[in-house]
Amino acid sequence: MKHSSKIAVGAATALGLGVAVAVFAHPGGMGPGMMGFGMGGPMMGRMQGDASFADDMRLVHAMLFDHDKIIRTVANLPDGIRTATESGDPGVARAIKAHVASMENRLKDGRIFNLFSPTLPVLFDNRDKIKTTVEMTERGAVVTQTSGDAKVVAALQAHAVEVSELARDGMAAMMRAARASMGTLGMNR
Ligand code: HEM
Repeated sequence: MKHSSKIAVGAATALGLGVAVAVFAHPGGMGPGMMGFGMGGPMMGRMQGDASFADDMRLVHAMLFDHDKIIRTVANLPDGIRTATESGDPGVARAIKAHVASMENRLKDGRIFNLFSPTLPVLFDNRDKIKTTVEMTERGAVVTQTSGDAKVVAALQAHAVEVSELARDGMAAMMRAARASMGTLGMNR
């Protein structure tokens, strides 16, 4: 179905532009690019525009923009993960800490924050089976997450890889995830 795959590519491009505009033209607030991205795009209905959404997006943009200043290591445990995500840049370190703190609260409250990750819905659906310990360091955060459920352990480990790819490749990794999620939306056939 050639026609609908063109729509998918168009949608991915529009999303890319939305993110780029939000990052480059509106670093301090919710600009028009962000509005189009968050409320008018094909992701509408898959994510929740709650009160902290704009703040959370701002932190994500800051980390993606400065991804090459992020140092991340992941250890897979038999029942989960231990990750260290840090930066020598104080601003980036602050963004990492604020993101981790906010995401921990979101997980606790079941307020999902997701754009293109296939693993986050599994984690939020099973949040009562996840034990999270966060240790803030001077330069970032060390996060340990464990579960007694093998399916959840697999999702934790897969999500840790997704975060590592975002830290390594920044916006390019985000766009890869966006294209992959078009397939799961049934738009890329
Ligand atoms: C460079 C970009 C990013 C970095 C460095 C980053 C960093 C982190 C870290 C350190 C954690 C704790 C779990 C772990 O270490 O694996 C985490 C969790 C989380 N992140 Fe990010 N993140 C990034 C991008 C994103 C994006 C784009 C989203 C969604 C739009 C997102 C949503 C979440 C959520 C919902 C959690 C909680 C998951 C859980 O605790 O099980 N993150 N992130």
